[in-house]
Formats: sequence, structure tokens, C-alpha cells
Amino acid sequence: MKTIIEELSLEIAEAFKKAGYDEKYAGVTVSNRPDLCEFQCNGAMAAAKEYRKAPIAIASDVAGYLEGNDIFEEVSAAAPGFLNLKLTGTYLAGYLERMRTEDKYGVCRNDSPKKTVIDYGGPNVAKPLHVGHLRSAIIGESVKRICRYMGDEVIGDIHLGDWGLQMGLIIAELRSRKPELPYFDPDFNGEYPSEAPFTITELEEIYPTASARSKTDEAFKEEAMNDTFLLQKGEKGHEALWKHIMNVSIPDLKKNYEKLNVSFDWWKGESDTRPYIADMVEDMKNKGLAYESEGALVVDVKEDTDTKEVPPCMILKSDGASLYTTTDLATLVYRRRELDPDKLIYVVDKRQEMHFIQVFRCAKKTGILKGDTQLDFLGFGTMNGKDGKPFKTREGGVMRLEVLLDEINEEMYKKIRDNHEVEEDEARRTAGIVALAAVKYGDLSNQATKDYVFDIDKFTSFEGNTGPYILYTIVRIKSILNKYRENGGKEGDVSLNAVTVEQEKALMLELVKYNQMIVNAYEELAPHKICAYIYDVANAFNRFYHENRILSEEDETKQSGWIVLLKLTLELLENGIDLLGFEAPEKM
Ligand code: ARG
Repeated sequence: MKTIIEELSLEIAEAFKKAGYDEKYAGVTVSNRPDLCEFQCNGAMAAAKEYRKAPIAIASDVAGYLEGNDIFEEVSAAAPGFLNLKLTGTYLAGYLERMRTEDKYGVCRNDSPKKTVIDYGGPNVAKPLHVGHLRSAIIGESVKRICRYMGDEVIGDIHLGDWGLQMGLIIAELRSRKPELPYFDPDFNGEYPSEAPFTITELEEIYPTASARSKTDEAFKEEAMNDTFLLQKGEKGHEALWKHIMNVSIPDLKKNYEKLNVSFDWWKGESDTRPYIADMVEDMKNKGLAYESEGALVVDVKEDTDTKEVPPCMILKSDGASLYTTTDLATLVYRRRELDPDKLIYVVDKRQEMHFIQVFRCAKKTGILKGDTQLDFLGFGTMNGKDGKPFKTREGGVMRLEVLLDEINEEMYKKIRDNHEVEEDEARRTAGIVALAAVKYGDLSNQATKDYVFDIDKFTSFEGNTGPYILYTIVRIKSILNKYRENGGKEGDVSLNAVTVEQEKALMLELVKYNQMIVNAYEELAPHKICAYIYDVANAFNRFYHENRILSEEDETKQSGWIVLLKLTLELLENGIDLLGFEAPEKM
């Protein structure tokens, strides 16, 4: 179905034509002076040049042809040449009524659905999940839901960091702690134990210790690099230890992502690229694209139009070891083989942008991807603390995600328990739901590319542009609807009112933006547009609610029309938060 802007523009275009002007000037936008009108058309200003006439004269001509039109309650020409528009309640309610009864509320879904891979999450195995990975998970999950909603066939891939130096560091550290383990005995011929020689808690301590040690102990660092190399070469003891690390880490990661309401279709990682690297490199050499430079193998990816330097893409190090670019390129090899995607979206820290410019260019140049594959790098900004520096624990260490979420849960629990008389269990459960909304909304309401300040007090507040405020509004509507039903209110074959009060119209004017907004959020990979929409809707609803006694309204027709409006508002809000990746409790 057409968006309301499209419908209005068509109507205005007719009037332009009748008045003898080109319809290309008839574009309508939402008013930027809501005190004067609801929509506006600024075309007369541009038309003035072509027709050598005062813009106000053109606007008045056009307005003349709109008199008595049943879409517009008011059309006025305002200096210097604006057309100010107000809609009739009948048209507005009618539009919303059509939206309400159409599939996906009239959103025009993709007519040719795209096969899409979304690469998000990106945690590193054996390193505790920290806040740096939070944004990727939250934004990626939302983008995935938006793409699916628009009809695309989407695969979410976590792309584990499971193949780098951190593995060598853990192995080297283990050797120095437990040299007697069979994995380190080159003459060992038996079966390795099936139990891992460490727990998840130990593993999470081993990595940071080893990492710190490698910064001061040169010999240890060498050893870790050698272990990484041996692992990549397929040394059997190393391979066995690596499997233990994976088996211990992955269930823990799964648990953590589940808590975040984030899921993946593929749990593949850098290590899955092993079978593809040799052929890929061979092919790049055969095509004459990969060449040796200072011992390393590289592919040139700079282009004439570059304004900043784009260094050659490194394919192999001088010792033949693979790099971050190697695994990312080989990942594209199997993604192409298994899915042949039309589009890939990477949700990664924006500081990695250059890496992806190189990978994207190299993949197209070497033919790993077709030339028309759409590649999107959704680089997000840093999550900062109130001091404006990257978010840390009070002690200045890296904040673990679990710890952060526990803190917010606790904060939310206190508020919910203090506010209401609820059972302990119920308060805990509700706190969990609201806390997640607080964190996700706090993140998603900012444009992804920008840095933002993670402010627990602000995010958990029930007032202002926050997740809890949105949930509170949803719960309020649910409770009105429940009471209405309990009182035996009429439902079923009822339509919206043709606007009875001003706040009702204001709410409708927000709701009708839905289909346009969803398409924008999809095209621009911008969940923050959904946040802005549901926030405006929530505000408009609350104004309506405060000015009208819905449940005690005596005019039954009016009341049942309002109930339909409430239901639609609720559906669109719930739909919005679902696309953002969280849900609302029944009560709070
Ligand atoms: N593991 C990486 C990191 O922690 C992020 C992975 C992003 N995805 C990718 N295909 N490179 O920085």
C-alpha cells in the first residue's frame, strides 16, 4: 500500500496539473511547523523559477483546485509560497483503517527478497564476553529482524574469533602451568582425555593472565606465536586442546547470548575457513593478483578515486601464517558456495572499517564474490562511560557483560519492588525483562555509527526516551484493554472513529508513519528510526490518555472506536519492540 506521503503527493500532483504546472513540483513532506499544519508542499518555490511567477501566486492557484477536496480539511498558501495542509479526520482514520487491515500494516515488502548474511556478535572464544561485543549483538539482532520482516531470507552468522593468537596464548600458558599434560608430549600415542583440563572459570582467568604476560615476557610471546602456528598447521596435541577450549567456551557463549535474546543461525568461525585458504591463495596467485611484497603475500586494492590511502590487502604473512583478512576472505568463499548471497551486512566496531574496505575490494577483485554483491559495513561507535571514555568497571578494568547485566537487573529490581507490591518472583522476572529493554533501547535509540554514553540511571528511568518508558506505555494500554473487556466492553466488528478529539488525531498522525518508517529503517540499516517512531507514538498515546477518560466514556460508539485505536497502537508498539529485539511484561 502507498505511504501516506505518496498518497498526498498524488493528490497534490493532480491539483498542480489542473492549475497548469508540472506535477514534479508536488512533493509532500511532514510539516516542520506542526503548529501551522500537518503536512506541507514546498514545490511552488521551485516552480516559480520555471514559470517566472511569484511562488505565492502558484501556491494559491494550486490551493484553489483543492477546495472541497475530501482529503484536506484545510489547504492554505502561506508566504513565500508554502502549501500548508491539514487532513480531514475521515481520510486519516480511513487510511489507518486500511493500514490496520493490510498484511504487515501496509508495509511494501521487497518484491525480490534478498538472500542476506548478517555477520554480528563476533565474540572471541575463550575471552570473556565484554561490553565491546554488546553493541554488535544488539544492533545485529535488530537488523536481522528488520530484514526478515521486509521479506529477505536471512542467515545470522556469529563469526567466532576462534583461530587467532589468543589460542596460542592459552596453550602456552597451560604448558607452563601443567607441562605434564599429554597434549605437550610429542611421543604421546594414546587417546587424549575427553575431559578438558580446565573449567570455564579457569579458562577466563588463563587468557587475561597469558595476554598480560606476553606483553612483558618476550620469550613467552614467541612461544605463544609458535603455538598458534603449530595449531594452524594441525599439530594433534594443539588440535585436541583447541577442541577442549571450544567445547568449554561455546556453551557459555550460548548461555550469554540467550540472556540477551540474541540468536544465530550459524555458529561458524574463523577456524571454519581452514579447508578453503590454500585454494583461495593459489587462485589469487594464478590470476596474477597476489604478489610478494617484503616477504608477505598481498593484493593491491587501492583505487584512483581514493581520498585516503588504502594499503594492499595482506593475504599471508611471511611465515605463511594466515591473518584476519585471510580468514575473512575465506569466509566469503564458503558463504558464496553455501548460499550465494545477494547481500552481506557486517555489524562491527567502526574502527575496523579499513579492514573491511580491503576485504570487500579484494573479494570482488579476485572473483570470490560477484561484482554486484551488495556489501554493507555497519560500523558502530564506542560505548562510553559517563566520563566520556570507553566503558570500564569502577576499578578501570574491562567490564564483563554478565556483570554489567547483573548490575542493571539489580537496579531495575529495586525500582520495581519499590514502586509496587509485587511478589518477589514476579518482580525478579519483570526486572529481567525491563532491564534488557533498558540496555537495548539505550543502545539502539542512538544512531549506530555514533559513540554513546552508557548511562544506567538514564536508561533505567521510567520517564523520557527510554526502554522502560516504552514498556510502561505498552503495559498501560494492555491494562486499559483488560479492564474494558472485564467490564463487558464491545469488540469485534468495529472500526476507528473519524477523529473525535484533537489528541486522537495527533496519535493517528504518528501511527500512519509506520510503513514509511520501516522501509527507511531497512534501507538505511537504522534501528534508531524504529525507536524514534515508537517514542513519538508512546508520547502521543499518553497525551491522548491523560486528556480522555477512555473507560468511563459514555458514548459507546466513540468508546469502541477508541478501543480499536488502542489495540492498533499496542500492536504497532509491540511490533516495534520485537524488531528491536525485546519484549514487554504483562505488568510492571
Ligand atoms: N572477533 C572480532 C573482534 O572481536 C570481530 C569479528 C567481526 N566479523 C568479521 N567477519 N571480521 O574484533
